Amino acid sequence: MKRLQDKCALITGAARGIGLAFAKAYVDEGAKVAIADINIAAAQAAAAEIGPAAIAVELDVTRQDSVDTAVADTADRLGRIDILINNAALFTAAPITEITREDYDRVFAVNVAGTLFTLQAVARHMITRGGGGKIINMASQAGRRGESLVAVYCATKAAVISLTQSAGLNLIAHGINVNAIAPGVVDGEHWDGVDALFAKYEGKAPGQKKKEVGAAVPYGRMGRAGDLTGMAIFLASKEADYIVAQTYNVDGGNWMS
Ligand SMILES: NC(=O)c1ccc[n+]([C@@H]2O[C@H](COP(=O)([O-])OP(=O)(O)OC[C@H]3O[C@@H](n4cnc5c(N)ncnc54)[C@H](O)[C@@H]3O)[C@@H](O)[C@H]2O)c1
Repeated sequence: MKRLQDKCALITGAARGIGLAFAKAYVDEGAKVAIADINIAAAQAAAAEIGPAAIAVELDVTRQDSVDTAVADTADRLGRIDILINNAALFTAAPITEITREDYDRVFAVNVAGTLFTLQAVARHMITRGGGGKIINMASQAGRRGESLVAVYCATKAAVISLTQSAGLNLIAHGINVNAIAPGVVDGEHWDGVDALFAKYEGKAPGQKKKEVGAAVPYGRMGRAGDLTGMAIFLASKEADYIVAQTYNVDGGNWMS
């Protein structure tokens, strides 16, 4: 028996990167998945690549009408939502003196408000249909401590850890487990952008920051999206029923808590 047989999952920001790896891993474990992303063309291409167990759903987590429509559309097309992964996020970096209110609002809207109000919409669906569910938020090692050039992103991920705790305590009465995963440094298109920002602010050659952060991981290299799928499957499975409001580091040993 596969661990997520016949479960239905909504994964935000799943058109690429870690979310896409989660979608593929969930389908391998017997689930149906909605690849929900603001980039609908990429979501459609990803769903087509995965096959009939995947659908593409247009979603902008910063807009309440889009969240409500995407949740209703997913429940309608998959039949129900048993699992949500709040994975969509933006990264930003700047020295404190150069942070703009526009950039702060843009990143908090996706990473914090987007996470909370998608979680809320899916929790309402799960409560109405009964039977509980599993919600996984994507935090980060950046939420465990500040970083000199990364104040805004770090603050959003600290907020995700805090929201996971409050929502986890509030929703377990309905049989809904809310937990989070805190990755370290995971190579991919996201980190191409991070590397470019550090090249700008620290005067590094392109690719240099990636080499440095990879070498600093106790495991010996940067993470890969596939390093995170085991935890995402476990937290969505029945084996995780007694796990409530936790954030798990999956980071090659970068952070201990
Ligand atoms: N890559 C890393 O090193 C790393 C480390 C720690 C935590 N994380 C977290 O893991 C998650 C996935 O990271 P990734 O590296 O795959 O990121 P990514 O940038 O590769 O993918 C993010 C996805 O979110 C989508 N998205 C952006 N704005 C959206 C919106 N408003 N509504 C819906 N979708 C939107 C994008 O189109 C994209 O497909 C994020 O929450 C990220 O913060 C990543």
